Amino acid sequence: MIIYFSGTGNSRFVAEHIAAAVGDTVFDVAPAMRAKKGVHFKKKGTYIFISPVYAAAPPLVFMSFLRHSRFEEGCRAYFVMTCASGMGASPDYCQKIAMEKGFSYCGTAQIDMPQNYIVYFKIGTPADNQAKIAAALPAIDAVADAVLAGRALPPSGTKGWESRSTPLILKPYYKLMIHAKAFCATDACVGCGKCVQLCPLGNIALQGNQPVWGERCTHCMACINLCPKEAVEYGKLTQGKPRYHGPHSVWRE
Ligand SMILES: Cc1cc2nc3c(=O)[nH]c(=O)nc-3n(C[C@H](O)[C@H](O)[C@H](O)COP(=O)(O)O)c2cc1C
Ligand code: SF4
Ligand code: SF4
Repeated sequence: MIIYFSGTGNSRFVAEHIAAAVGDTVFDVAPAMRAKKGVHFKKKGTYIFISPVYAAAPPLVFMSFLRHSRFEEGCRAYFVMTCASGMGASPDYCQKIAMEKGFSYCGTAQIDMPQNYIVYFKIGTPADNQAKIAAALPAIDAVADAVLAGRALPPSGTKGWESRSTPLILKPYYKLMIHAKAFCATDACVGCGKCVQLCPLGNIALQGNQPVWGERCTHCMACINLCPKEAVEYGKLTQGKPRYHGPHSVWRE
């Protein structure tokens, strides 16, 4: 089974591609996350966990979901991290979770995909994003090949300083930088409610046809990048910046 968390679709794209190659099913964790519930996965065998990299680690919400979920004894776990340029210390976290949950750890792969962190970074042009996705296909296929052959993934190459620094900065980073206080809808908003559907954590509600953001944001960047009217801003940090529309034409219907 392939279990994924995705904000703007990169990780879902990778999950679906691997699922097609290995003949397995995908499971989107967003509904369970909205309900703040873990899941009891009863299937035995191989699991592939796929998520974006947030601050050189898997998203805290994804790690928490895995910790609150149950798995059968003796399963194997592959991890796949999508990122803009580097997965940092993610393999350390993946290996730790695999051990905690009693998996046999089969490695962590990095897949470079388009940048989606519009709040702090520049988004690529549509052509650049398309090219980056095409360039990622061989690395995605290599993961599928390893899974089909029952082989572990190659060692991750995480540097010692990444392993040491990430645990120190991760929680303070979330506390200081990751919140929804700066989100707002502009006059371009038509009250369609798409942002409500898009939020994997159920953090957005419509009030009088205008979205309001709650306190459970993980900065997945779905609401701001995928609003069909480009009507979401994050203070002044995102004004005038192009949006990342993701690899899917239809997302969280
Ligand atoms: C909160 C946040 C933190 C991020 N941190 C990193 C990072 O540390 N390294 C990196 O290469 N990309 C980073 N990115 C980029 C994403 O990992 C990347 O675009 C990913 O493929 C998005 O996946 P998704 O579309 O499935 O949500 C970050 C993005 C966000 C939203
Ligand atoms: S998706 Fe955009 S246009 Fe639709 S309600 Fe949300 S902010 Fe408004
Ligand atoms: S509020 Fe927006 S950025 Fe925050 S988790 Fe929901 S969709 Fe993602």
